Amino acid sequence: MSDKKKVLITGGAGFIGSALSRHLQELGHEVYVLDDLSFGRRELAGVDDAHFLKVDIRDRAATQQAIARVDPQWVLHLAAIHFIPYCNQHPVEAADININGTINVLDACVDAEQVFVASTAAVYPIADGAVREDHPTGPLDIYGITKLATERLASEFHLRAGVPTIVGRFFNAFGPNETNPHLIPEVQQQVLSGKRTLQLGNLDPKRDFIHTEDMSRAMALLLGKGLTGFEVFNIGRGIEYSVREIVDAFERQLGEPLTIEVDPARVRKVERMHLLADVSKLKRVTGWEPKWGIDEGVATLLKEERHK
Ligand SMILES: NC(=O)c1ccc[n+]([C@@H]2O[C@H](COP(=O)([O-])OP(=O)(O)OC[C@H]3O[C@@H](n4cnc5c(N)ncnc54)[C@H](O)[C@@H]3O)[C@@H](O)[C@H]2O)c1
Repeated sequence: MSDKKKVLITGGAGFIGSALSRHLQELGHEVYVLDDLSFGRRELAGVDDAHFLKVDIRDRAATQQAIARVDPQWVLHLAAIHFIPYCNQHPVEAADININGTINVLDACVDAEQVFVASTAAVYPIADGAVREDHPTGPLDIYGITKLATERLASEFHLRAGVPTIVGRFFNAFGPNETNPHLIPEVQQQVLSGKRTLQLGNLDPKRDFIHTEDMSRAMALLLGKGLTGFEVFNIGRGIEYSVREIVDAFERQLGEPLTIEVDPARVRKVERMHLLADVSKLKRVTGWEPKWGIDEGVATLLKEERHK
């Protein structure tokens, strides 16, 4: 059996999915992208028109037909509504896409060799210290609740269809082509627009930032292992940085001082102070090690042309 696979990525025109599409093609796999382009951009998918399927995963018949036509060996399901403030404002849409859309995708994957489903660190409750996969779940917001449902659906799919299924709990991704205004693209945008006094929200919360290239390698290594059951893996870097430390990294790479002004409109009412991954399971199973530090990542972001 060839180790080059026919792979379908849902959400492959998005921030993480586009890095994954590039990485899997570099490894020689044949990549198809399924995306409705609601948040993603066509050119980011990195595939020709024959390999691009513009489908809304809420459309069950269209999703079934598109996946049946490709008949992929590996499916990586990343399509979701994911920006927490957007999910809070549009809870019904978030639930529809993240839950019903996931049901539609999984039901179309019963003939796949392996399925990977993107989840999130937002399924964990507030915790001090690094969280392991067996830590009890306890999402704080509608987004985390829909993704915990995504995980449960993936487990049920595995039991029902017998397809080996991996859930990856992504921590905070950073890298080029970010589609949602998270902290790092926000700082990047303000710095690239010439500001040296930045308007930001809470400065003290710490997050585990992992580069999208490191995430893509982790996903490819996990699928390459040919695991047979249902497994959950944290995909983070295992280091946490505060907002202030991220701004410090921009300062170092820019070689100019940056001042921070707290903008009360940006301060979140409910905020976790820590979110840190224990990635020992991922490392033990795959031998994966992160390659990107925050400074190297920020250096490339300062050279990026931002899409307006
Ligand atoms: N960015 C992060 O830090 C982070 C952290 C944890 C988990 N995740 C998860 O990773 C995955 C990818 O996130 P991302 O940051 O790349 O976000 P993104 O918004 O850039 O990517 C999601 C993609 O899904 C597509 N999509 C949305 N609704 C769709 C629908 N109804 N039908 C078809 N396609 C649809 C969008 O157009 C977009 O291209 C998501 O499942 C998200 O929950 C991301």
